[in-house]
Amino acid sequence: MTAIDYSSKIPNNVDLASDKRLQRALETWQPDFQKWWMDVGPDGYQGADVYLRTAVSAEPSGWAHFGYVKMPDYRWGVFLSPREADRTVVFGDHAGEPAWQQVPGEYRNMLRRMVVTQADTEPASVEQQKRLGKTAPSLYDMRNLFQVNVEEARHLWQMVYVLHAHFGRDGRDEADELLARRSGDADKPRILDAFNQPCEDWLSFFAFTMFTDRDGKFQLAALAESGFDPLARSCRFMLTEEAHHLFVGETGIDRIVSRSAELTRRSPNGLASELGGIDLDVVQRNINYWFAFCLDLFGSEISTNAAESYAAGLKGRFREEKRFHHHDLRDDYFVVPVVEGGRLVDQEVPMRNALNEVLRGDYRHDCERVVDKWNETIASHGVDFKLSLPSTRFFRRQGLYRDSFFNPAGEPIDEDTWNRNRDQWLPTEADREAVMRVMGPVTEPGVFANWIAPPKKGLGGKGVEFAYVRFD
Ligand SMILES: [Fe+2]
Ligand SMILES: [Fe+2]
Repeated sequence: MTAIDYSSKIPNNVDLASDKRLQRALETWQPDFQKWWMDVGPDGYQGADVYLRTAVSAEPSGWAHFGYVKMPDYRWGVFLSPREADRTVVFGDHAGEPAWQQVPGEYRNMLRRMVVTQADTEPASVEQQKRLGKTAPSLYDMRNLFQVNVEEARHLWQMVYVLHAHFGRDGRDEADELLARRSGDADKPRILDAFNQPCEDWLSFFAFTMFTDRDGKFQLAALAESGFDPLARSCRFMLTEEAHHLFVGETGIDRIVSRSAELTRRSPNGLASELGGIDLDVVQRNINYWFAFCLDLFGSEISTNAAESYAAGLKGRFREEKRFHHHDLRDDYFVVPVVEGGRLVDQEVPMRNALNEVLRGDYRHDCERVVDKWNETIASHGVDFKLSLPSTRFFRRQGLYRDSFFNPAGEPIDEDTWNRNRDQWLPTEADREAVMRVMGPVTEPGVFANWIAPPKKGLGGKGVEFAYVRFD
């Protein structure tokens, strides 16, 4: 295992200097990446000193170093987790064979699609979050936003390395396309829908890092099991960074509902918005919206793609190797409720075809654990309000349920009932305006906007009152 080499143009721990062709190709892509970052990265803060962590090793212990960095000077690079000796394919039809160090020819297209789809989400989120610095509720939060942004951009580097190193000319073309698409663009949108949604306020940002980055956790974890070893090792180190993004989302919403509950209790009519906070039912509608969009990211409930990528040993279940003893699944079945004549009917499907739904179930379970914590926070303020996740059938745009209407409990309803209740279930224009009204920059160290509680502690060895971002 080589240490991270910061002396070369592209920091890496993959001995890039020994492959001149690859090194040159990535060095040619680098200025295009920098231009992309300046065009669509954080708007207005490229000259600020931000207290960021930078990877110094890919070992799980002590991999990051904290210090002030101007974002354009961040050392984006390629960091793979250590290679395991004699690693074998863990699941599917090739289980027990040596893990692939090169792309297996028969699976080249499937693998390329998987890498590109994952890669595309990384720059997309930076684009979606471009303007949020201007309304940050504190320097602590602004720093967290920028940390997430530089790391998503590094994840792009990581996947572009896989494309350049293993997919030849096609890989180079795909890497260029990753810088050409834009979130929300009418002509060249990002590949997945959730990554084309606007994210213009901090409630959305925290919902995004809670729900969308958490989808990333599950996708990366499934790819970290891959028999294609360079992809598995890439995803493992990305997951290490991803944990902080989830922390930002989870604690961000916890701090919002803490403050909202406190204001709800103190306000004359029991509404946080009367005292400049965000009403809890607005938070609930945002949870419904982002959770539903993120469920789509897992793909269709019954899917031949899922079956093929498992059979090929390329995409496993969540923690496939550690959690399960059997890694074949050819003779297993899974029950999926399907819509028939406006009713739900259980259907047994081959397990391999249901693996998207299995992963979605693991994701939902992980989200539920967090929502329970938020409810404890609300209850601790003596307020009678419970947040919940909607059913995985609610407000779906993809998959089995997209052509039917369901209430948040997951019961089939008709279109009229949907239209009558939609404004109770999903964010309205009035909600968006109410949230935007309380957004505003707070740039004094240790001070927090009225609508969000301060965090319990600071970051990177510093206190809550630390100047996490310094201007000029
Ligand atoms: Fe990422
Ligand atoms: Fe992330």
